Amino acid sequence: MAAENVCKRYGDLRALDCVSLTVGQGDFFGLLGPNGAGKTTLIGVLGGLVKADSGGAFIMGSDVRADALAARRKVGIVTQELLYDPFFTVREALDFQSKYYGLGNNGEWIDTLLERLHLGEKANTNTRNLSGGMKRRLMVAQALVHRPPVIVLDEPTAGVDINLRLSLWGFIRELNKQGHTIILTTHYLEEAEALCRTLALMRGGKIIALDKTKNLLRGCVQVRLLAEGSLPSDLPPHRKNESGRMIFNTLDYGDIEPLLASLRGAGARVIEMEVAPPDLEDAFLRIVGDGQ
Ligand SMILES: Nc1ncnc2c1ncn2[C@@H]1O[C@H](COP(=O)(O)OP(=O)(O)OP(=O)(O)O)[C@@H](O)[C@H]1O
Ligand SMILES: [Mg+2]
Repeated sequence: MAAENVCKRYGDLRALDCVSLTVGQGDFFGLLGPNGAGKTTLIGVLGGLVKADSGGAFIMGSDVRADALAARRKVGIVTQELLYDPFFTVREALDFQSKYYGLGNNGEWIDTLLERLHLGEKANTNTRNLSGGMKRRLMVAQALVHRPPVIVLDEPTAGVDINLRLSLWGFIRELNKQGHTIILTTHYLEEAEALCRTLALMRGGKIIALDKTKNLLRGCVQVRLLAEGSLPSDLPPHRKNESGRMIFNTLDYGDIEPLLASLRGAGARVIEMEVAPPDLEDAFLRIVGDGQ
């Protein structure tokens, strides 16, 4: 999957500011960033749902514009917006979608999808009578109905309860193990950290960081410190929690010694100190930090 210099404006707003991105086949790729960063627009361009002003998008070599049908067969997109056809039952919607892809005899896979997405009981329910979370699950099933090699999920777990979220991830992980490429946007950073091998951070229509998840987290620690006495005036950025501990979110290991020295120099006494592994949120805030 590749985007090459994709630009998209809405009036004066640069929703995508010449984005280039390649996602390796078989990767589990996370697209993160604040509201309005351009994630959904980028996914829309990749899925042929949004027309870019310039640049190109390719799904496993197929140009989403020039070779739209071929590209569409290779990708399944769960859009952020809830879309469903109110005239079908769940099973009919999946049958219809299968026929669209020319798959006449897809019953077995549809049964698997219904089971794995916990929609079996609702198979004969009209889609307009599904709850919001169930509609989202149906959208996941519809995106997977033609077993696309590239699966794009734009906040698929928004509004989905915790049990289903876990089983959905179990299922998506399995598909990834079988070789499907997964591209995911989520605002649940712990989800991205646990699932994604590669992460891209977007802001203002640009990709501002892209790395293996483990590299993004490397060298970054969280230090929680309880001190009494007079504190130095030039402490690195931190916040205080309820119990008065100072939380230094994104220190490098090398920053710890100077921090302790400066506390000692000011006459502060360290009562308690804890060095914790960083979490993705910290790494993310360190990079996107200002201006959010
Ligand atoms: N159809 C549209 N018309 C005008 N502006 C749009 C349209 N679609 C998106 N935008 C604008 O483009 C920018 C990027 O939006 P986009 O939906 O891609 O963000 P996002 O990263 O998906 O955000 P979120 O995390 O909220 O889903 C936003 O400023 C948005 O208001
Ligand atoms: Mg979005």
